[in-house]
Amino acid sequence: MAGTEATVRFRIYDSNGGKALSSLHPAVWIDRREAGQVREARECREKIQSFLQPGFNRRPNVDLNSYFILALNHQPSISVIDPLFGFGGSKLFALVPLRSTGEDWVMSADKKRLYVSMPAINQVAVIDTAEWKPSAHIDAGVKPSRVALQHDGKYLWIGNDAESKGSGITVIDTVSLTVAAHLDTGAGHHEIAFTEELPKGLDVTYFVNDGSEANDLAVTMARLFTGNTDVIALRNGYHGGSPSSMGLTSHSTWKFPVPGAIGIHHTVSPDPYRSQFSGTPEEIASKSAEDIRELIRYSTPGKIAAFIAEPIQGVGGATYGARNYLSEAYKITRDHGGLCIADEVQTGFGRTGDHYWGFENFDVIPDFVTMAKGIGNGVPLGAVTTRMEIAQALTQRIHFNTFGGNPVCMAAGLAVIDVIDEDGLQENSRVVGKRLKDGFKELAKHQQLIGDVRGMGLMLGVELVRDRKTKEPAKKETLAVLEAAREMGVLIGKGGIDGNVLRIKPPMCITAEDADFTLDVLDRALTAVAK
Ligand SMILES: Cc1ncc(COP(=O)(O)O)c(C=O)c1O
Repeated sequence: MAGTEATVRFRIYDSNGGKALSSLHPAVWIDRREAGQVREARECREKIQSFLQPGFNRRPNVDLNSYFILALNHQPSISVIDPLFGFGGSKLFALVPLRSTGEDWVMSADKKRLYVSMPAINQVAVIDTAEWKPSAHIDAGVKPSRVALQHDGKYLWIGNDAESKGSGITVIDTVSLTVAAHLDTGAGHHEIAFTEELPKGLDVTYFVNDGSEANDLAVTMARLFTGNTDVIALRNGYHGGSPSSMGLTSHSTWKFPVPGAIGIHHTVSPDPYRSQFSGTPEEIASKSAEDIRELIRYSTPGKIAAFIAEPIQGVGGATYGARNYLSEAYKITRDHGGLCIADEVQTGFGRTGDHYWGFENFDVIPDFVTMAKGIGNGVPLGAVTTRMEIAQALTQRIHFNTFGGNPVCMAAGLAVIDVIDEDGLQENSRVVGKRLKDGFKELAKHQQLIGDVRGMGLMLGVELVRDRKTKEPAKKETLAVLEAAREMGVLIGKGGIDGNVLRIKPPMCITAEDADFTLDVLDRALTAVAK
């Protein structure tokens, strides 16, 4: 805040291999409360400033005197977690640069007393550890370096060691001396892991359970932030099955006849294979983007909240426009007050090979990135990442989700990110994906059913048609090909509104041998069906 003094007090504790907060991160504790004065840290003024903006704290029934902060010991940043939102899994609100160090408490040699200095109120708290219940873990290896007392003395926070009883942070109510809560810190670590891969500024993440919920939340935030209602989505897109994400979805096959699409409009797909426009793929992309402008002109008040698109449509059959499409669509959206949502539920985490995120293939930077599926490799986990100023739009009311950011899913998500990196799965997607795509193109030379081969990395589509000129969808033939392939040991998905696209999205650990086997099986299946 302008004009206030920079007096945030950091307590930073060496993690000493502190497994409780993860094997990487030392704990940092930050207090902020002094007679209504907003404090700032000199070292992290900018981010803390946005963190402490007025309005941010206007949550009913919430005491926001303190924040739990995690630090990466090998990164110049820390994540700020509101502990009071951590009961169902921490919600991470900010990443801030970190430079400070300090030490302000000590445990007596016999571990009977803990002395905590509280400079903010000029006192030293003396805490009798004998009164703690065993669940406080104080004797079981909690290192003196990882305990913090809220400066009003109300709560004591303990980072548990791996060798002690459990992980996470134990919060002790120092009045009742009972365990008040356990906080998970995995959310922050997970966020840091993948926000490192995202463009600068996209650094606030809200964890949810699945992709539908992530898209719902992104649209909600876009509406709150812009003050506009209308949302534009692509025809042939899939964004989920909850009432509002089903509204974003544009496939009659996936839409139940129930209301849900309030304020949602569907623009033409830029897919050059089946476009209503003629011209080069780039020309078709531009004409398709222009349809957004028309839609805004005719069907909205002239301002929109958001444009949402999968960089490559998954359920729609691996379709996408030429490279200029998304940048033109994003520009038109932003010219009309809207924010851009990239639904990376299928394209994220390296699947498209050349890039970690699908949108990077199209040289755009979205305002929201929604994620699920691959983020947890099977566990229920979703997320929406956005910019701080947009996320703050959510703070005007309580938004809560019991399981979002829960420790089990966070641990799985972190492991997935490690495996993607350590096993080089993005590179594998690029290399094996190219082998497959080249192979499908080769098959298309003699398999007349193949009308189009498209996609990037391990996100490929092979569209089957009865006639390459009329492009009549080969619906029955597609089913027969899938059955024949299944009998030969290869499971292939089906996509497109007519169900005539082979969706090739294998696990990212697929090998070159697997790819060759798939190509061989598909060749035989197509030959059998064509007879
Ligand atoms: C692109 C895309 N967005 C959103 C969703 C919805 O995700 P979930 O099924 O996890 O709700 C899906 C699911 O298939 C998807 O493919």
